Amino acid sequence: MLESSSFSGDPLETERRAINASSGISVIIPTYQEVLNIPHILSQLDALRRAAALTLEVIFVDDNSQDGSAEAVAAAGFDWARMIVRTDERGLSSAVIAGFRAARYPMLVCMDCDLSHPVQTIPLMRLGLSAGQEMVVGSRYVPGGTTDDDWGILRWLNSVLATVLARPLTNVQDPMSGFFALRKVDFDAAHDLNPVGYKIALELIVKCGFGTIAEVPIHFSDRVHGQSKLSLREQLKYLQHLRRLYLYRFANAMYVAQFLVVGLSGLVVNLVVLSLLLALGLPEPACLAGGIGVSLISNFMLNRRFTFSYARFGPLARQFMGFVSASAVGLVVNYAVALALRDADWNTSALSLHIAALCGVAAGTAFNFLGSRYLVFRKRHIRR
Ligand code: GDD
Ligand code: MN
Repeated sequence: MLESSSFSGDPLETERRAINASSGISVIIPTYQEVLNIPHILSQLDALRRAAALTLEVIFVDDNSQDGSAEAVAAAGFDWARMIVRTDERGLSSAVIAGFRAARYPMLVCMDCDLSHPVQTIPLMRLGLSAGQEMVVGSRYVPGGTTDDDWGILRWLNSVLATVLARPLTNVQDPMSGFFALRKVDFDAAHDLNPVGYKIALELIVKCGFGTIAEVPIHFSDRVHGQSKLSLREQLKYLQHLRRLYLYRFANAMYVAQFLVVGLSGLVVNLVVLSLLLALGLPEPACLAGGIGVSLISNFMLNRRFTFSYARFGPLARQFMGFVSASAVGLVVNYAVALALRDADWNTSALSLHIAALCGVAAGTAFNFLGSRYLVFRKRHIRR
């Protein structure tokens, strides 16, 4: 599955990025309460280190498990293995990032501690990087990749669904994999890393903008000792993570899509309020005004909190006035466009008044969107 390299012709750059058969490898293993697995993964890595004559360091990044993990690493007595114990932060992705930062070799590998990932794949990963790949992923879903049989249908479905949702972001078949390799220089150059949740590989694929990613098939074994920490809560965080990655990759399309969804919700709010007020027996002009007013407010709040959430700490009153103004101008644009199209020469059939009206709505909405995006909720370049 190795594709061609994407290196620039610059010899200095090529040298900086070079990985070869003697490059050192930093293996980063995030851990939380993995004391039972630590001796096993270390002996697997030690055997590999000797067999393949690897220059290797292993960095466990532990979130203060206090289960004897640190002692287990020390007891193994390998000068190439150490554990960073964090007490100030928690979380799988941020642990991996901390380990990558602390790494000293040009090639980084991330893997689970629970023996799910086959260490023998690591030399193959290095081969992929040395052939010019920017990332190599240990994959369950390419030909030759397998998982232990007792993967229940639910776990499988879950994994497939998560992968499908990530499809617009990457062609990688198994972007959920926790076993992957990349260059230290590429990691160091990545910015805007957002260490939310479990899917650190996907985060890096999107934020590093990798073009060439190879997948090597692995057999994914079920963990024998300890428990998975992949909770329902983590899976919900994944949806939040996905939204952020979509925003990052498809910023304007996402703003438009969210703005339209909010607009549709405003339509529903408008009609519901109208019906309620009518049921209360208010005069019709008041009911119409009520529907418009409430939907204007709900649209404003949703756009502020959701569509343009980066602006949610901005000045509320000023934003609201701006939003009302943009909507008012949008209405005028809507009306003017519809009128102009109605009066156009080609306009003869009865249907075309409706078409003119629709075009008016489209123009007004587009105007509203642009006003909201670039004036009302504009990005101020202030870093918090
Ligand atoms: N430092 C730290 N902090 N480590 C953590 C934390 C945390 O909050 N949560 C989990 N880990 C460690 C675990 O100790 C383990 O070594 C590794 O991260 C993966 O956690 P598991 O709990 O074994 O996750 P999993 O097997 O359910 O999920 C794995 O497979 C998924 C694909 O099926 C992970 O590799 C996922 O990244 C992957 O998506
Ligand atoms: Mn696991």
